[in-house]
Amino acid sequence: MCDVAHGPPKIFVYKSGKQVYTGEHTRGGAHLAMAYKLAITTVKWGVGKTTIAQNLAGALAEVGQKILLVDLDQQGNLSSVFLDNIYRLPLTLYDLITDPDIPTGEVIHRTSFENIDILPANLELSRVEFQLVGDNDAQFYVADKLKEVDDYDLIILDTTPNSGLMTISALVAANGVMIPVECQEWAARGSAYVLDLISKVERRANPPLRLLGYVINRYDRRRKLEESYREALLENHGPLVFQTMIRNSVKYPEAVSVRRPITAYQPKSEQAQVFRVLATELLQRAFAQVETAASRESTKGGKHVQARKI
Ligand SMILES: Nc1ncnc2c1ncn2[C@@H]1O[C@H](COP(=O)(O)OP(=O)(O)OP(=O)(O)O)[C@@H](O)[C@H]1O
Ligand SMILES: [Mg+2]
Repeated sequence: MCDVAHGPPKIFVYKSGKQVYTGEHTRGGAHLAMAYKLAITTVKWGVGKTTIAQNLAGALAEVGQKILLVDLDQQGNLSSVFLDNIYRLPLTLYDLITDPDIPTGEVIHRTSFENIDILPANLELSRVEFQLVGDNDAQFYVADKLKEVDDYDLIILDTTPNSGLMTISALVAANGVMIPVECQEWAARGSAYVLDLISKVERRANPPLRLLGYVINRYDRRRKLEESYREALLENHGPLVFQTMIRNSVKYPEAVSVRRPITAYQPKSEQAQVFRVLATELLQRAFAQVETAASRESTKGGKHVQARKI
């Protein structure tokens, strides 16, 4: 477990088994040699997908990682945090997906936070599913459009709480998946469904896709049942559970209402520190995945073989 109660967390990043960066979450740090795409996905609504995207972006941007947020949810919650009046945007993800002539760069908006850009969505996105019915390539459009951008360290995809086209599109585009879970029975069932979805996408559309891990959100140790679900999750998935847990705190909805990542809203709070530690853990896992895939590839004499585990 990460202890965040005693001073700022140390940031450790490893590359090829060597520690390449240590610090107390200051500017600088190691960068992935690619725009790593992280999908934050589960079919359960309200478990913290958008909260995690919003606050991870803040914590990563703070240490100089260049972040592109992609809002694949017609609710536009993530877009509303970072942009004014999302219903007046000239171009959104909907336009990008439905008009092959629009370059991705034209739909990316700068935010008022350094190192955070966003590709926004609003209710218009709800039309896309019907509009692309029968189009066998529909699930590849987001992935194709994101290939046009390479000046980001991480691209974070916030998905909808269902298994429709936008969630599939995120999985087809992603390198890794983070599954937020609450320690409750129905949440566990929801994540089993996502696992099935991930393996279907991995088998056909996106073989390099990997599950980076489960992140426990809204944890409240005082609730006995939650503790036993947490133990069950650790028993079943072990290292696939992120060590950093996000506790239940009113500061997260507060950060939404002031439209800032928690690291900007209350930089010294325990809640901000948790996201810095989570960001570090995420970078370590992403580095490990990229390194493993690269070394497998090189030991197979250049034959493209993907790592099975991160
Ligand atoms: N750790 C937390 N502590 C307290 N409130 C939280 C926490 N995480 C999320 N919330 C709150 O729970 C609500 C749902 O969170 P969020 O919107 O991030 O979930 P979501 O999975 O993106 O939802 P949806 O499925 O609708 O997209 C929000 O009001 C958010 O502020
Ligand atoms: Mg959401």
